[in-house]
Amino acid sequence: MENTLYIKTFGCQMNERDSEIIEQLLAQDGFRSVDTPESASVVILNTCSIRAKAEQKVYSLLGQLRDSRKKAPEMLVGVAGCVAQQESRRILERMPHVDFVIGTQQIYQLPDIVQRLRSRQTEKEISTDLESQFTIPPFQKLHETVPKAGSGDFRRFVTIMQGCNNYCSYCVVPHTRGREVSRPVKDILEEVRILVRQGIKEITLLGQNVNSYGMTNPVADGKVSFSQLLRQVAEIKGVERLRFTTSNPKDLSKELMRCFAELDNLCPHFHLPVQAGSNRVLAAMNRKYTVEEYLYKVKSLREYRPDIAIATDIIVGFPGESEIDFQGTMDLLEQVRFHGSFSFKYSDRPNTRSADFSDKVPEDVKSERLSRFQRRQDQISLERNREYIGTTQHVMIESIDGSTCKGRTPTNHIVHFSRPENLFTFTTGQTVLVSVQQAGKHSLKGTVINS
Ligand code: SAH
Ligand code: SF4
Ligand code: F3S
Repeated sequence: MENTLYIKTFGCQMNERDSEIIEQLLAQDGFRSVDTPESASVVILNTCSIRAKAEQKVYSLLGQLRDSRKKAPEMLVGVAGCVAQQESRRILERMPHVDFVIGTQQIYQLPDIVQRLRSRQTEKEISTDLESQFTIPPFQKLHETVPKAGSGDFRRFVTIMQGCNNYCSYCVVPHTRGREVSRPVKDILEEVRILVRQGIKEITLLGQNVNSYGMTNPVADGKVSFSQLLRQVAEIKGVERLRFTTSNPKDLSKELMRCFAELDNLCPHFHLPVQAGSNRVLAAMNRKYTVEEYLYKVKSLREYRPDIAIATDIIVGFPGESEIDFQGTMDLLEQVRFHGSFSFKYSDRPNTRSADFSDKVPEDVKSERLSRFQRRQDQISLERNREYIGTTQHVMIESIDGSTCKGRTPTNHIVHFSRPENLFTFTTGQTVLVSVQQAGKHSLKGTVINS
């Protein structure tokens, strides 16, 4: 049987990174990746459970795979990621054509699982123990699990920690990813070195809660804080741009702010999810900061790095959120004037505390608040983007399609521009100077002024 893998990834960058590892692991057994489930001998959905909709999507896709699975009896269908972790055996009960369910901390078992199923040693496989091993590659596996950069690759995620200990009352992540564990500094630095040797120019350090790197279960390194780690990564030659995601504002330190002033390659862009603009709601969410503390941190960040672009995540309609509470979120938007935001309607999730809170906000109220927030954010994003008209920006090219190019500024703004006719040497990952002439709510437009 030909070894072909189709993997579809949902959710956050942690899942994207896990999918890369899965592809690498199976490639060692001769698997090559294909673009359609019909042409695959192993189909994996790497799933997200952050909101109910994300989970529903998985079940509907699994339903659609039933026929393909019937037509190709040798095909194996598997579910990985956060829904797999959360639902485990229940997936097999609802979807009997699924062959295996593999939890977030078990991905290294995958080659063995596939082998056992293929040789018919087992009929079904469920492997969803949590707290058993890292999903981030251990040092000795680095060279096997760090993907080889293909032509055109110029940026990569590097996981620095797994799990989360914060238990925000609405969030499934601590339940699906387990306890927070920081990865050893030397492994992180080595992974970054491997990547830059392959020509990668932009590194994003990844964790659900990067600000608390090293504070919980530091592995063998003694205490190294996130800002100390950041400084060490920034020093690696070849790291042209450095970013990180995500941060809980409660752990954002002055030392980290100082990095924005002192590290040239640390991009002036900060995704700092606030979630809500009411102290009552923030307390019920168990976020452990107040609106005032958040505003103070934003103000300090801007003192350290005046050109920093700040983006956020917002949940509207948390249980008990009154119109006055929501107005607090709108006021916060006016005060910070976020460059951009991701905003969501609150969704009940299994095992979370807020699922049991009374006083749920009706769906139509949530929808109305969400669109009110998004309308205003769009206006502000447009106004913010217009501030860049007339400036010159260093733009790292992301894609080239004929004569049109798309790239990103250090502040994470997308810029569209044309490739000058006499310059056919453009490549992705190259940085060019662009003079910005137009602004929309989601992107900028400009002209190259040199290369
Ligand atoms: N670790 C990050 C968030 C990861 S989840 C942090 O602490 O900020 C990404 C975003 O999904 C969250 O910031 C939140 O805005 C949203 N989210 C999480 N759980 C949710 C839920 N139950 N309902 C709606 N949105 C949710
Ligand atoms: Fe979820 Fe909160 Fe952890 Fe973010 S910090 S992953 S929102 S529990
Ligand atoms: Fe989703 Fe799991 Fe990431 S729930 S957001 S895939 S950690």
